[in-house]
Amino acid sequence: MSRAELEKWETRYTAGEFTPNDRPSALLAEWLPHLPRGRALDVACGPGRNALFLARHGYTVDAIDISSAALEMVRRKATEEHLSVNCIQADLDVFASPFDTYDLIVVNFYLNRVLAPKLVGALKTGGVLLFEHHGLSDAGTVPMNRDAPTDPQLRLKPGELRSLFRGLCILHYSEGPVLKDGELVPLAQLVARKEVAPRRACRNAVPTCRPDLSGFNRLSANGVFASLRQDGGQLTALAIFIGVALKYWA
Ligand SMILES: C[S@@+](CC[C@H](N)C(=O)[O-])C[C@H]1O[C@@H](n2cnc3c(N)ncnc32)[C@H](O)[C@@H]1O
Repeated sequence: MSRAELEKWETRYTAGEFTPNDRPSALLAEWLPHLPRGRALDVACGPGRNALFLARHGYTVDAIDISSAALEMVRRKATEEHLSVNCIQADLDVFASPFDTYDLIVVNFYLNRVLAPKLVGALKTGGVLLFEHHGLSDAGTVPMNRDAPTDPQLRLKPGELRSLFRGLCILHYSEGPVLKDGELVPLAQLVARKEVAPRRACRNAVPTCRPDLSGFNRLSANGVFASLRQDGGQLTALAIFIGVALKYWA
């Protein structure tokens, strides 16, 4: 990250220009009962709404951000609530992430495409990644909403989030307008699990949360649909085989 970028975030936090509310991500709150417990990482945690939420629910939490002002807020709130959050000040552009370490990784509103394989590596087998970020509209345009980056490069393109984490077993995937802080904003959301053999395990992945089917531009998927898509080639081959066999017997 450039010096100017860092200063931008520090100024935003110290001047109170960027004040995400204290409520955790609605996606995280909805999925919490279905997520593996243990050690969690909050990537680009900001003032720590999700890191603190996870600590309140018994996780051992590492929270990374480049902004010392943001991490100071996390520490202060953690102290007030007698919680423990391990705050790590680091530039995620060059962060050497640990391997096979976390049961849960959450990334909310921070997009760093080169970090994706490192996050997968940092998950334990059976660990879950929960990711959400601003998306482009169907037409590839940038609908305006508060706090969202105006640069299209800093938003997810249609289908991009799924393809960034294609090695994981998808438990939930959606793209489309979601109610966030009272505004309908185009978000891409993914909940996905790291498996030893993703395709096989995906076949058994039963969706535990109801997919939100409201809105347009939605590519909703759960483990079953994702599995069908992944197995599409095999199904086609099986259909051809059955067709040929029937023709032969007739
Ligand atoms: C939009 S905020 C998201 C905060 C939090 N995840 C949330 O949902 O409330 C983005 C955060 O990314 C952090 N950030 C941006 N670039 C970073 C980098 N290269 N390394 C670490 N943190 C970075 C900023 O300091 C900021 O706190």
